[in-house]
Amino acid sequence: MNFLSHLECPRCRQQWPADRTWNTCECGAPLLVRYDLEGARRVLSRDHLASRQADMWRYRELLPVRKEENITTLGEGFTPLLRLSRLGAAMGVELLLKDEGQNPTGTFKARGAACGISRAWELGIRKVALPTAGNAGAAWASYAARRGMECLVVMPEDAPELTKKECSVAGAQVITVPGLISDAAKVVAHYVRSRGYFDVSTLREPYRIEGKKTMGYEIAEQVGWKLPDVIVYPTGGGVGLIGMWKAFQEMKQLRWLEGPLPRMVAVQAAGCAPIVLAHRQGREESDYWAGAHTVAAGIRVPKALGDFLVLQALRASGGTAVAVEDEEILYCVQELAAREGVYVCPEGAACLAAIRKLRERQWLREGETVLLLNTGSGLKYPELVQATVTPHESAS
Ligand SMILES: Cc1ncc(COP(=O)(O)O)c(C=O)c1O
Ligand SMILES: [Zn+2]
Repeated sequence: MNFLSHLECPRCRQQWPADRTWNTCECGAPLLVRYDLEGARRVLSRDHLASRQADMWRYRELLPVRKEENITTLGEGFTPLLRLSRLGAAMGVELLLKDEGQNPTGTFKARGAACGISRAWELGIRKVALPTAGNAGAAWASYAARRGMECLVVMPEDAPELTKKECSVAGAQVITVPGLISDAAKVVAHYVRSRGYFDVSTLREPYRIEGKKTMGYEIAEQVGWKLPDVIVYPTGGGVGLIGMWKAFQEMKQLRWLEGPLPRMVAVQAAGCAPIVLAHRQGREESDYWAGAHTVAAGIRVPKALGDFLVLQALRASGGTAVAVEDEEILYCVQELAAREGVYVCPEGAACLAAIRKLRERQWLREGETVLLLNTGSGLKYPELVQATVTPHESAS
């Protein structure tokens, strides 16, 4: 049984029927998926979940795919929640890391792609196109291949080499462009107009966010329904943060949560921090960030379509936004691997750097529980670190 009800524009509040294909609202804003949560509450309880399979489809009643046969899965979700006791103790906080690097294709993008491809197939779509910083392309190409759909991926020419190979080996058409993801988006728009691809760019279709919201459901379930004080998220397009915040609102209506909601923190790189700037200025939207640069390719997004939703979530939760330098990111990659055994992506490492800053500023209080999202595996960025090796010298 599925409780999908309709789509709703978070800006102009216009409602749209769910079982047709949509991109954005008439007003240009992303559409959000709404469910009959009262109906869901009557038949689905937290206890029902315990015996279900350990993947994101354990929340299927609250996901937008109507028929089970349309679910396209590689086993995504239900990733481990790890306690970082040494680093936490050193900072005087309870530190938790959700390791999204253990998803298929090595990043949390698997969740959005699994949901997006499943629903696209259900609605009769057979060709999808998207711009990507790299990881989303790899995920969508893989899930499209699994479902037998065509996929076109456009990415910056300096996107991580491995992600180009992942897309290519999955049979996607891969086009590279000079510049940023925003330049790739223009090429996608051209193919959508001229070749009949369906545009599955970040927040230009409503279902990717539904996959990513399952991170919020899982966190709640894994910590026993009392959420951490603070959740720290590396923010590019912001889909994961918007998705988790949406999940928390839904769970509140389902009366599944105990205690207050977390303060949400958006982390960006100092070389591309449009949301940090807009938050500091108390603005509702961000400006395009010229000359964006950072080693953390996934958060190199100069202007996000859903920026106003990220900013709203930060404000509503009493959260904040923090920018960190590339050197801090690289240091934290090493530190997490050497002190906790977790080889994280640079975006995940950025969160640790931000937590340290927030603790220094006393924004994070002694003993608070802080959860950081490691959105991908360090294995996807082999070019980022140097190995220290000692050649064996045979005894003379
Ligand atoms: C590893 C990684 N982390 C974080 C992000 C940012 O994701 P979001 O669009 O949810 O802000 C990306 C996006 O490409 C990514 O690849
Ligand atoms: Zn609208």
